[in-house]
Amino acid sequence: MTVIALVGTQWGDEGKGKITDVLAARADMVVRYQGGNNAGHTVVVGDQTYKLHLIPSGIISPGTTCIIGNGVVVDPKVLCTEIESLHAAGVSTANLYVSERAQVIMPYHRALDKLEEDHRLLRIGTTARGIGPAYVDKYMRIGIRMIDLTCPERFERLLDQALAFKNPLLQKVYGHPGFSREEILEEYLEYGRVLAPMITDTSLLVDAAREKGLNILLEGAQGTLLDIDHGTYPFVTSSNPTAGGAAPGAGIGPTQIDQVIGVVKAYTTRVGEGPFPTELKDATGDLIRERGREYGTTTGRPRRCGWFDAVMVRYAVRVNGLTGLAVTLLDVLDELDELKVCVAYEYRGERLHHLPSDLEILKECTPVYATLAGWKEPISAAREYGALPEGTRAYLEFIAEQVGCPIQIVSVGPRRDQTIFLDPVIK
Ligand code: GDP
Ligand code: IMO
Ligand code: MG
Repeated sequence: MTVIALVGTQWGDEGKGKITDVLAARADMVVRYQGGNNAGHTVVVGDQTYKLHLIPSGIISPGTTCIIGNGVVVDPKVLCTEIESLHAAGVSTANLYVSERAQVIMPYHRALDKLEEDHRLLRIGTTARGIGPAYVDKYMRIGIRMIDLTCPERFERLLDQALAFKNPLLQKVYGHPGFSREEILEEYLEYGRVLAPMITDTSLLVDAAREKGLNILLEGAQGTLLDIDHGTYPFVTSSNPTAGGAAPGAGIGPTQIDQVIGVVKAYTTRVGEGPFPTELKDATGDLIRERGREYGTTTGRPRRCGWFDAVMVRYAVRVNGLTGLAVTLLDVLDELDELKVCVAYEYRGERLHHLPSDLEILKECTPVYATLAGWKEPISAAREYGALPEGTRAYLEFIAEQVGCPIQIVSVGPRRDQTIFLDPVIK
């Protein structure tokens, strides 16, 4: 039995969906523990591509129980659509459960997300899915939980309370007409009726699986540098994607997590605003974007691309307590003559080996690069470590040494079989 937290080590889109799906073949349960449908996790099986936003990436593996944990903010409309599209693709959701404690994303959250963005001094470039405003209500203790959708009277009361806060804000600050209870009530009670069979105390299910000695994967969304505490604040999301968020978001204790795997791209990308020291605004950046198909899974926005930043990943190793790495999208670098890895930052003549908290300092940091030779051959057909070109292995070994964490998995393509295990992870 093992309980594994799987986290993004950069700014999201590291390939968490693919690695979760691959590991789900050997796991009995996959739990999403934070975020919402700001996430876009891609799973490729044969010629079929699944884009998952809320439902755990274990859903494609028959027999794997999938749980949307209490730490997730759930847009029930999106959840219903996602379930329907999985059914249309022949994927069963019979083993899908949603925590009764998970917070609900309401129409006013989506509206506020857009309006707040236009009101900020510095835009964040959010996904406009209502994620931040839903977490605000959770912490303000006026949020509505999934269980409330199944109790019409209580839902009505809570909706009235929320609207008494939200409508004056929408109308007086943002000049928005606001929402009437009638336009929300029936729609959301209907979601409650449709989803009721899967709404339950999921923490009991996770505990029962643990008691039985099953393998459990805790699937993070976003990434370390988007973490509300440890990311490049304020250009972050509103939850804790880091491993520390996995226990409260799934409803287990921190001592019950055995391994923490960091999913890391062989280079760096970022969607949305905020500092990015190794960003490439040149032909190499464009080449990486095209080869890696670096366009947002959720919003379709082009992702900003740059060299691997070992300072950041070293930081992710530390704040997540990573026990191993899954390196993804390595094949995207196949054609490059040389590869750069940022090993430190230079700030006003000084070498920094740690990520500064102050974004003003980070903005002024210039990367100190080590240059490695490219391997200049396709690697997507490699199925074992020894089959990778010497230059590819040298690159991986350099990264592992720089960040101080062993590599357990290497991904050389989006498909399941394009995966090399250096360590079985789940025995
Ligand atoms: P996530 O949000 O961390 O799950 O990542 P996304 O799904 O948003 O983005 C990762 C993209 O890279 C998806 O299109 C995947 O299908 C794709 N992908 C994952 N691993 C690999 C890989 O090793 N090589 C290539 N070429 N693509 C990959
Ligand atoms: P996955 O799980 C990449 C980014 C947004 C924005 C910031 C805040 O697919 O890796 P939010 O809507 O969360 O308030 O936006 O966070 N962001 C992501 N970037 N991958 C994601 O998820 C992201 N989820 C949010 O672009 O910069
Ligand atoms: Mg994504």
